[in-house]
Amino acid sequence: MLVSAKEMLDKAKAGHYAVGQFNINNLEWTKSVLLTAEELRSPVILGVSEGAGKYMTGFGTVAAMVKAMHDELGITVPVALHLDHGTYEGCYKCIKAGFTSIMFDGSHYPIDENVEKTKELVSVAHAMGMSIEAEVGSIGGEEDGVVGMGECADPEECKRVADLGVDMLAAGIGNIHGKYPANWKGLSFETLDSIQKLTGQMPLVLHGGTGIPEDMIKKAISLGVAKINVNTECQLSFADATRKYIEAGKDLEGKGFDPRKLLAPGAEAIKATVKEKMELFGSVGKA
Ligand code: G3H
Ligand code: ZN
Repeated sequence: MLVSAKEMLDKAKAGHYAVGQFNINNLEWTKSVLLTAEELRSPVILGVSEGAGKYMTGFGTVAAMVKAMHDELGITVPVALHLDHGTYEGCYKCIKAGFTSIMFDGSHYPIDENVEKTKELVSVAHAMGMSIEAEVGSIGGEEDGVVGMGECADPEECKRVADLGVDMLAAGIGNIHGKYPANWKGLSFETLDSIQKLTGQMPLVLHGGTGIPEDMIKKAISLGVAKINVNTECQLSFADATRKYIEAGKDLEGKGFDPRKLLAPGAEAIKATVKEKMELFGSVGKA
């Protein structure tokens, strides 16, 4: 059965590695991530954004698909089904739908309102045995219409939110969703270190995992990051593999147009990206 993210992240924090959150966008994505996690004996978090949930016809559909697939595939590694960048209303929809973890992204509210809503959702989520992520300081770039500037979070505000009892905390440290611009200044490890010092054993979350140099990833893990989110990089590898298949004319050969063939190269490319990230994050063999 699916699990909350709490135990896997507490173990990751203590073991100085990170668990990947890989956003899913359809059946093939889900299958690729689950099979790779099982093969590598890695815990994994399936992230579902508000937009992806709508695209897949609702959080209830997503939960039913993931639970059924998890059982059909005989998955044995810890898997959490997590709402990514959830709205207040979206959190309640996912609690109802049977997710095992939620993120309430209250970073665009004034801090007092973020704290108030987060406190309420912590109580509800924990009563359901779910884990909950909160965010302080919006993450840069754009993710399903959620646009942030990539500023750095206030460590004191992070402590206020961490003290609410959340299970993981996303804090802006200069990270950006999507592709990083050439003039990107890098992560603010000074901010990350301050946040870790004020929040203690709290598993910290690094959003915008696509395209962050490996040495920065490793340094972020050494400073308390225990969950790293990746979406764009899987989308890019899926698109690139699919394009190559079509440009080679494979869709014109025999039954090459069959969606099970057409989508296969992209599904394999997702597996390769997920494998590369799990190895970089250090979660292989940690199930
Ligand atoms: O919440 C999802 C992640 O932050 C995705 O970031 O698309 O830059 O990998 P990314
Ligand atoms: Zn994110």
